Amino acid sequence: VRYGEEMVERGAGGELHQTAGDGRKSLTTQQGIVVSDDQNTLRAGERGPDLLEDFHFREKIFHFDHERIPERVVHARGFGAHGFFETYESLSDITRADLFQQSGQRTEAFVRFSTVAGSRGSFDLARDVRGFAVKLYTREGNWDLVGNNIPVFFIQDAIKFPDVIHAAKPEPDRGFPQAQTAHDNFWDFASLMPESTHMLMWIMSDRAIPRSFRFMEGFGVHTFRLVNAEGRSTFVKFHWKPKQGLQSVVWNEAVKINGADPDFHRRDLWDAINRGAYPEWELGLQLFDDDFADRFAFDVLDPTKIIPEEEVPLRRVGRLVLDRVVDNFFAETEQVAFCTQNIVPGIDFTNDPLLQGRNFSYLDTQLKRLGGPNFTQLRVNAPRCPVAHFQQDGHMAMANPTSRANYEPNSWPPDEGGPREDPMRGFTTYPSQESGPKRRLRAESFADHYSQARLFYMSQAPVERRHIADAFVFELSKCDRADIRTRMVAGLRNVDDDLARIVADGLGLAELPDPLPAARETVRDLTP
Ligand code: HEM
Repeated sequence: VRYGEEMVERGAGGELHQTAGDGRKSLTTQQGIVVSDDQNTLRAGERGPDLLEDFHFREKIFHFDHERIPERVVHARGFGAHGFFETYESLSDITRADLFQQSGQRTEAFVRFSTVAGSRGSFDLARDVRGFAVKLYTREGNWDLVGNNIPVFFIQDAIKFPDVIHAAKPEPDRGFPQAQTAHDNFWDFASLMPESTHMLMWIMSDRAIPRSFRFMEGFGVHTFRLVNAEGRSTFVKFHWKPKQGLQSVVWNEAVKINGADPDFHRRDLWDAINRGAYPEWELGLQLFDDDFADRFAFDVLDPTKIIPEEEVPLRRVGRLVLDRVVDNFFAETEQVAFCTQNIVPGIDFTNDPLLQGRNFSYLDTQLKRLGGPNFTQLRVNAPRCPVAHFQQDGHMAMANPTSRANYEPNSWPPDEGGPREDPMRGFTTYPSQESGPKRRLRAESFADHYSQARLFYMSQAPVERRHIADAFVFELSKCDRADIRTRMVAGLRNVDDDLARIVADGLGLAELPDPLPAARETVRDLTP
């Protein structure tokens, strides 16, 4: 019979069989065997039992049983899109990175935005940091700029990362709260880690509830290096500036949106791209040299500090455009693997202890999340430039070396000997001078935890300050332990007494606690 436009048959039990033909492909097994009946298992007799020999049933269920992979240990909920980066003008005087050599040069890009604390199925409008991870498929290999929408971080040393994330995620005994900073463990940790104060001011601000991904800034956070063809290094901080502008919602809106449409941010990006309203960001560079780094009031290796744009203005060097949604969410957005260690010739790391730790963490976690060492061969992760090496085998090896030799040095002729080192074009590490005794002691130059928190608070408009205070009151009021609430207020006294007082009043504290001892006097004259 015809059913609408389709060929349809009814089975003995009345079940619908939508059959091939009229341009519809035949359904097959993974082995390419055409399937004749996808509604009924093979069984003995009229009423069963099922027969083990039904290879189509077994294959279908087996594959379904294995559909899930672990979600990311952080940034589990995210949304990605394709696009390109376009360089405005040559930056060959400061970097040899291929993507920055010519004006108008375009580089393919994939971007994934995310929340940090919530699980894969959590809601979009959580009060949280947003990930802003960019993969640039340059002609000299993949460069991943794995950033956030906030320019600083909670901790100064990667060894504290498991602690800050454990404290932020649901509590281990009860498994809640989901995707919220409003709980004892988070504030207990935060109140005992004064270095998190600057970041806390940002995540209690409107920045942590963006209107959508399209209206957020992005930051590389750490200081990196750019290195030119002569080997000269310039320090750099990376910024993404949204051409759409910077917009947030207020907390009451966020709460309602989460209830009405927990997918609000991903739907917004999907819809915008599909209707041709391609979001754009400009890449801004803060460039500075060793002299500035030595003069600056804070350590440029400290990821809890910014360099104010008044001191080092941004140089806008290109634009990032997102113009294509993914074909498949899992294949692309879930399987994409960003990694801070993915840098290209012309870009290099610094000794920021958070960055150095991240360089270990991403590859390690992806090995598990993506099931082995060959995830770089997945389409979304594979470079778009030639790849030639002797790394081979392992689970799912789809691009093993094809040369006779799989080692080097070797004496095979070019067509059988495989690739060779290339000192002229290859990546070389910037030869910075390093020395000193091994130690675990934190640098004294990292010790002022409050001045920039205060600088941020004072830079906010009165209504934005009110939002920050309200957010502290709301979040801390969900904290059961009075001593934690008091300790947080004591820390806030080192930022601003008015703020501490409003929060104390909001929490019903009988009196203002003494300020927490500050490791180093705050530099009050930084207040604008
Ligand atoms: C994932 C940013 C610090 C470990 C991510 C993602 C972003 C990000 C954007 C999501 C990537 C994606 O969309 O797939 C940052 C920033 C940091 C920071 C800006 C500080 C400035 C750290 C530290 C560690 C770490 C210190 C560990 C030492 C991870 C891990 C993942 C992740 C394990 C999951 C990666 C995956 O499964 O693919 N981070 N992160 N991050 N980050 Fe970070």
